[in-house]
Amino acid sequence: MTGLLTYMIDSQPDLFKELTGFVLRRYQRNNRKSMRDVYEVDRDFLRLEKENLEFLFNNRTDVVTLLNNPDHLSDLARVFVKSSLEFTYNSNQYIHLDNVEQQRLLDMYQSYLRGMKQILETDRIFNDFEKDFSTLVKDHFNDLSSNISRFFDRKDARQVQENIILKQVVCAEYSPDFQLGLLGLSPEELLPPVLDLGCGKNGTLVKFLREKGIAALGVDRLVESDPALIEADWFDIKFNAGTWGTILSHMAFSNHFLFQHRYKYGKPHQYARLYMQILESLKPGGSFIYSPGLPFIEQFLPKEQFKVESKVMAKSNPMKLDRQEQPVVMQITQLAGDSTGAVRQ
Ligand SMILES: C[S@@+](CC[C@H](N)C(=O)[O-])C[C@H]1O[C@@H](n2cnc3c(N)ncnc32)[C@H](O)[C@@H]1O
Repeated sequence: MTGLLTYMIDSQPDLFKELTGFVLRRYQRNNRKSMRDVYEVDRDFLRLEKENLEFLFNNRTDVVTLLNNPDHLSDLARVFVKSSLEFTYNSNQYIHLDNVEQQRLLDMYQSYLRGMKQILETDRIFNDFEKDFSTLVKDHFNDLSSNISRFFDRKDARQVQENIILKQVVCAEYSPDFQLGLLGLSPEELLPPVLDLGCGKNGTLVKFLREKGIAALGVDRLVESDPALIEADWFDIKFNAGTWGTILSHMAFSNHFLFQHRYKYGKPHQYARLYMQILESLKPGGSFIYSPGLPFIEQFLPKEQFKVESKVMAKSNPMKLDRQEQPVVMQITQLAGDSTGAVRQ
């Protein structure tokens, strides 16, 4: 569970916690499923535990009262959305659920909870409740399935078979040594303050740098609770000009930009705009250091404003790859000019 999710649940009444317990345990049980399982509505998703159903039915008056409170209903739907985001990103890191997509999910979960409330209000016999609830869950998963199908063309059967969105694309987190080795950096040479963009849930590199007394912050769309880690989508961050000494992004921002650049239904222009904002947010002399490289955009950077360097880390080779296969590391340095490109002497 991320820090935000724990915080959202901790301050709620016991019944709310009990209900979120059901939700979280369900996600936990299914955490190895892929988006393809969601798309195909895997039978495990529809399996309902008798014990949970009985709890809901036996406590229906209290559950209905809780769900009649719009704040509780919306908070509970938010727990679903958060868990769904964690599930989605753990299954496939290339899926991007922006604020509009998250609102869409929130609406779906709210309507699911309203449906549950209605059944609890009307059904007087447990068997009726069980039957109606199963139908509700089935309809809800059919909605989730058509929602995910908007990310590709479901009319094209091959697209469905081979679509990368439906595959497991696990998101690894690497140790600080590994990341620094691959990027070919030693902590002492990093110009502060340092931002680790897409730092991973645990932000291990950020913590490592801070232990060495280096001012560093991490951003990721999912983070554990830590004052140095910010849970945010990188599209929602304000990159103020001239702020950062170093921005690091190991297998994160550029990896996702590359994916969007290559994917038929990708949104590379959004990434291109953000890439430029990131570069503008560097102090004069500051660098954006990332891997893999983005040759399709780096070649167009104005030479009077940015120094573009690439390196292949031959010596430290932490992945034990042949030289040709090793990832390229890019370092883009903001020259001593301002954002208009005028060079300060
Ligand atoms: C392969 S992991 C690398 C993590 C870390 N840099 C490392 O090397 O251990 C990529 C990270 O980018 C994050 N990420 C992807 N899209 C993001 C977005 N739109 N906003 C913030 N973080 C994002 C993912 O959540 C994931 O933690």
